[in-house]
Amino acid sequence: MASGSSIFPRNFKKDYPVAVRGEGCWIISADGRRFLDAAGQAAVVNIGHGVAEIGRAMAEQSSQIAFAHTSQFHSAPAEKLAARLLQLAPANFRNGGRVYFTSGGSEATETAIKLARQYHLESGQPQRYGVISRRQSYHGSTLGAMSVSGNIARRAPYQPLLPEWGHISECFAYHNAGSLTDEDYAVACANDLDKFLRGPLGSSAAAFIFEPVVGATLGAAVPGTGYIERIGEICRENKILLIADEIMSGMGRTAKPFAIQHWNVEPDIILVGKGIASGYAPLGAVLVSATIVEAFERGSGIFQHGFTYQAHPVCTAAGNAVLDYLEAHKLFDRVSSISKTLRADLEPLRSHPNVSDIRGMGLLIGIEFVNDKNSREPFPPSQNIAERIRQAALEENVLTYPTQGCVDGLQGDHILLAPPFILNAEESALIAGAIKSALTKVFPS
Ligand SMILES: Cc1ncc(COP(=O)(O)O)c(C=O)c1O
Repeated sequence: MASGSSIFPRNFKKDYPVAVRGEGCWIISADGRRFLDAAGQAAVVNIGHGVAEIGRAMAEQSSQIAFAHTSQFHSAPAEKLAARLLQLAPANFRNGGRVYFTSGGSEATETAIKLARQYHLESGQPQRYGVISRRQSYHGSTLGAMSVSGNIARRAPYQPLLPEWGHISECFAYHNAGSLTDEDYAVACANDLDKFLRGPLGSSAAAFIFEPVVGATLGAAVPGTGYIERIGEICRENKILLIADEIMSGMGRTAKPFAIQHWNVEPDIILVGKGIASGYAPLGAVLVSATIVEAFERGSGIFQHGFTYQAHPVCTAAGNAVLDYLEAHKLFDRVSSISKTLRADLEPLRSHPNVSDIRGMGLLIGIEFVNDKNSREPFPPSQNIAERIRQAALEENVLTYPTQGCVDGLQGDHILLAPPFILNAEESALIAGAIKSALTKVFPS
C-alpha cells in the first residue's frame, strides 16, 4: 500500500512509483528507474514524453489568456484546432461541421449522447432518445458513458444506476465466429443492429455508438470485412446517427487520422480524446457533421449542455502544438512503418503455447493469452494472467496495459500495446524481449 500518500488511488493494494520526468518513449520515476512506455500510458502519449515545445506553447497561451468562459467568448486556439480537426475528418465534416471540445473522453461521450437526443428533438422526432451500443465495449466512466458501455467488470458496481437503451452483439470473430466465415459473421453481427431496430425499442433509438477498433475491452479487435459498411447502411436506413468512438483509435493511432477512414464510411459524430493532446493537457473533442449542425441552426439554436472548462484555451493550444509536431515529423506516416517493425518483433511470440493471437491495427496492438491454443479456452479469471504478464514485463521495465474479459466479459486475458509514434527499432525489440521474458516467468515449462 502506498503509505503516506494523500491521493485517493485507483487501487489501494498497489504501490505507485512517482513519475518525475518523461523522455520520448520513457518515463523516469523518483527512484531513478526508467520505464519503456509500450502502452503510451493508456494509448494517450502519441508524440512521446517531454516534448518541450508543447509546454512552451501552453505557457505562451496561458500568459496571453488562460481562461475565458465559452458562454461569453471563443478563443483563437480552440477555433484553430477545430478547423484543423475537421480537415482531417471524412468529407461530411469538412464543409459546415463543428467541434465541441471537452476535458476528456468520457465528457465527449456524454456530449454525444445528449447531442443525439437533442438532434432528434430539433428534427421533429421527440420519441428518439436511446443510444444503442455493443456488449463488449467501453465508452467512458461517467454514468451516461457507462450506460452505453458493455464492459461487464467496469459496469458491475454501478448497474442499478444505469439506464438500459439496448446492447447488441460485438463483432469479434476470433472467439465468436464459430462455423461462419469471418465475413459472414461480420455481416451477421451488423444485422443484429437491424434486428434490434425492428424490435420494441427500435422507434426510440437515436444513435448507435461503437469503437471501430475495440481498444481496452477486446484488445485491439478489428471488425471483419463488410461490418462497418453494413452498420453505416442500417443507421442511414433507420435514420439514426452513427457515432464513432475514436477516443482510443483516433488521432493517427491506426495510421490514418481516424480508424473509420480505413473503411470509407462517414459517421455523423466522431469522438476524440487521449492522443489529441498526447497527455500534455486534458482534452477531448466531439466532431459534429454538417447535417447535425444544420438541424441546430435551423431549430432552437441552443445546445442544452455545457462544461465550465470546455474548449479551454491552454488545452486547445496544447492540441495545436501536438498536431504541429505530428505534421512536422510526419508521425501519422511513421505509424505504418514502425508498427510493421513492432509486429515483426512480436511475431515469434505466436509460437508460444499460451499466446493465441496478436492482432490490431497500426500502433494499437493486442496480445491474447489462452490456456489451450487449439480450443482457444481461456484461463480461469482467478489466475489473473493479464495482470501477471504486466507485472513480469514491468520487472523488465516495460509498461503494458492488461485487461481481462475479452472472451465473455469475465474470462480472457490480453495486454494492449500502444506506444508513442516515435518508437524506434531498438525500443521495439526491447518491448518484444520483455514480453518474451514475461511469458517465461508466468508460464514456466
Ligand atoms: C474507446 C474509449 N472511449 C472512451 C474512453 C473514456 O475516456 P476518458 O478516460 O478520457 O474519460 C476511453 C478510455 O479509455 C476509451 O478507450
